[in-house]
Amino acid sequence: MLFPDYRPRRLRASEGLRRMIRETQLSPDDLILPLFAVGGRSVKNPIGALPGQFQYSVDNLVAPAREAFAAGIPAVILFGIPERKDPLGTSAYAKDGIVQKAVRALKNKLPELVVITDVCLCQYTDHGHCGVVEGNRVQNDASLELLARTALSHAAAGADMVAPSDMMDGRVAEIRDMLDENGFSHTPIMAYSAKYCSAYYGPFREAADSAPKFGDRRTYQMDPANALEAVREVTLDIEEGADIVMVKPALAYLDIICRVRQEIDLPLAAYNVSGEYAMIKAAAKMGWLDETDVMLESLTAIKRAGADMILTYFATKAARAVA
Ligand code: PBG
Ligand code: ZN
Repeated sequence: MLFPDYRPRRLRASEGLRRMIRETQLSPDDLILPLFAVGGRSVKNPIGALPGQFQYSVDNLVAPAREAFAAGIPAVILFGIPERKDPLGTSAYAKDGIVQKAVRALKNKLPELVVITDVCLCQYTDHGHCGVVEGNRVQNDASLELLARTALSHAAAGADMVAPSDMMDGRVAEIRDMLDENGFSHTPIMAYSAKYCSAYYGPFREAADSAPKFGDRRTYQMDPANALEAVREVTLDIEEGADIVMVKPALAYLDIICRVRQEIDLPLAAYNVSGEYAMIKAAAKMGWLDETDVMLESLTAIKRAGADMILTYFATKAARAVA
């Protein structure tokens, strides 16, 4: 059928018709809110490059989690900023570490909220890398046990799901084994599988105080130029036991989300990262674009590309906007 018989505009003529033929629906169910936990009491530190986002002490953390849950969001993901850093990131797997305390507080006050924890060492190591450093190298195999211990300590504190973001080879299998051997065979793993070495993480490194003190993350995070390798990374994580796989960042990697979606049948998450949030916030503040409209268009695009769930600093705002 061709013009003038076929007129695509016929089905765009009213909001009712547009709703009927809309292919992608954004729902609060799709969203996961990242939260930053810090030591102290009554702390709510604004994060400069993430307007509207804060570092919360554990006593203050329940409020934003409750708001998200009330807006219909099923889950949050926790990041910790510890009091002490050392070469082995020991605060990451301490029983009374910041994330462990935050998990207990959230599960205590909001038992139905799904609490996911980010599992990595970079916020906890004095050198700021995601694994153990020897010489000037980030050592893969020596990092695995520490990452697995971190995941186990989160699960033991009550985390509903653990999410390794380090990009060491073999960490999903190591974490799965550690969880299974210690009575946590029921705890799922959301693997940051295709995590690119991205400049879009800039604001996060300020928020989590996790910038590497030397070098960069190019020896473990993926080269932004690669797509086939993303499919390989995702496949490996699935074989190692991942329950959910992730592509990160999201907006500059919609092709990767789309490709991974076609290759695998596991639930797929995408991380709408700090820099993606910051760009929209900055342009909106300048009056150059409409924040709510661009937010919804971006999140819809991530879902349309194939993501089942989206980690985003916009989660609460977006959930309210689509409710
Ligand atoms: C740490 C981690 C990072 C992010 C999530 N976990 C930063 C990094 O790898 O340097 C980025 C999140 C964001 O930018 O919003 N492994
Ligand atoms: Zn890290």
